[in-house]
Amino acid sequence: MKLWGGRFTANTDQAVQDFNESLSFDRRLYKQDIAGSIAHVTMLAKQKILSEEDRDAIIAGLNGIKDDIENGTLAIEGDYEDIHSFVESNLTERIGEAGKRLHTGRSRNDQVALDMKMYVRDEILETDELLKHLLEVLLKLMEEHTETYMPGFTHLQKAQPTTLAHHLGAYFEMFKRDRGRLHDVYERLNYCPLGSGALAGTTYPLDRNYTARLLGFYGATLNSMDSVSDRDYLIEYLDALSIIMMHLSRFSEEVILWNSNEYRFVELDDAYSTGSSIMPQKKNPDIAELVRGKTGRVYGALMSLLTTMKGLPLAYDKDMQEDKELSFDAIDTTKDCLKLFADMLDTMKFRKDVMEASAKRGFTNATDAADYLVNRGVPFRDAHGIVGQLVLKCIKQGIALDDLPLDAYKEICPVFEADIYAAVSLKTCVEKRVTMGAPGSEAMQVVIARYKNYLENV
Ligand code: ARG
Repeated sequence: MKLWGGRFTANTDQAVQDFNESLSFDRRLYKQDIAGSIAHVTMLAKQKILSEEDRDAIIAGLNGIKDDIENGTLAIEGDYEDIHSFVESNLTERIGEAGKRLHTGRSRNDQVALDMKMYVRDEILETDELLKHLLEVLLKLMEEHTETYMPGFTHLQKAQPTTLAHHLGAYFEMFKRDRGRLHDVYERLNYCPLGSGALAGTTYPLDRNYTARLLGFYGATLNSMDSVSDRDYLIEYLDALSIIMMHLSRFSEEVILWNSNEYRFVELDDAYSTGSSIMPQKKNPDIAELVRGKTGRVYGALMSLLTTMKGLPLAYDKDMQEDKELSFDAIDTTKDCLKLFADMLDTMKFRKDVMEASAKRGFTNATDAADYLVNRGVPFRDAHGIVGQLVLKCIKQGIALDDLPLDAYKEICPVFEADIYAAVSLKTCVEKRVTMGAPGSEAMQVVIARYKNYLENV
């Protein structure tokens, strides 16, 4: 069952076999491995390195293996070293002699480099789809909530009023950049390492660009040593996933705060929250907490691979087999988180009244009250002081600036007139903010239209 028994006289120790094997986790590369082999023999036959009969027998055998794996009659298990050995041994069992010609002009080093690249390429596209879906959910909510007023925070203290659409729009920007990052990784990785051999190419007249095109790559890689030892694309992908998780984690933190008894800005759908085994009143934001928590393991995969790669001499070293398990876990984890988070968001209820009341209570319109005075000739520094006194008055009485009688305003500064109430109303405060990127609905509509256009085209 080994691909390299020839120069050995003793069998591998079982503990060594167990320590060395990767089949238990690289089994998930079977599709890529088979597709790569089919392209390889197609090219070998075109170059007259392999007969057409052998090519056809190999392709039929490989397709049979794929079908049997997928219909459950062939389990990927046994004492094979890795998925490459598994497929090749199975092929030879099925078709005999011709199977032994599959590996002509190829090494497992360029083979595994190819399989991982193709796998990452597929996963990038799936991650992108999930991000796009999340953006669609966000945009739908933004359209619904351009007039849902809420406090905007700095230092977790109420700062200035904004809208839910505006707040969600910040996440739209983040996840949009995440898609851009995935796109960049894809563009850089999409060159085919197959045909690089173990490290120094091969003496067979391979047509590497032909194989590359068959497999949907832009072309062949240009240095065979780099080709078998490059895992940059995986590190970049893990980096992109880490940033996605960082964004999801910040968003989760806000959902957790918003769902708390103190905020009550949102209500999680029953299907996306859980209860307590002891406290009957509880409705916990477990999904958001888990997304926040799982961020750590995705960062872990990135740090792990960076560390694995940092001291490796060229070209292939077995250390690189360690690129798989944690990466697979990070990829699965991020995809799960993206999916669940989008569904949780989609089913969450926003309590407009609570958000609006909260924006009113926090003196988020204090800047606007000062601006009112500035527009009537009071220097900003003085206006700041005057409004500070008004706020103090309100705090003592437990009311908002909106509820302070005009006399009380005038007592501190006679410039105030009855139109102060319109000037500090939540709606006015938000609607006056019309600079590009601000929450005023006019500015918001421009941005929403751009986002719509983006989702239709990208
Ligand atoms: N399982 C190996 C890996 O994941 C495949 C490449 C093995 N190459 C070798 N020269 N031993 O990296």
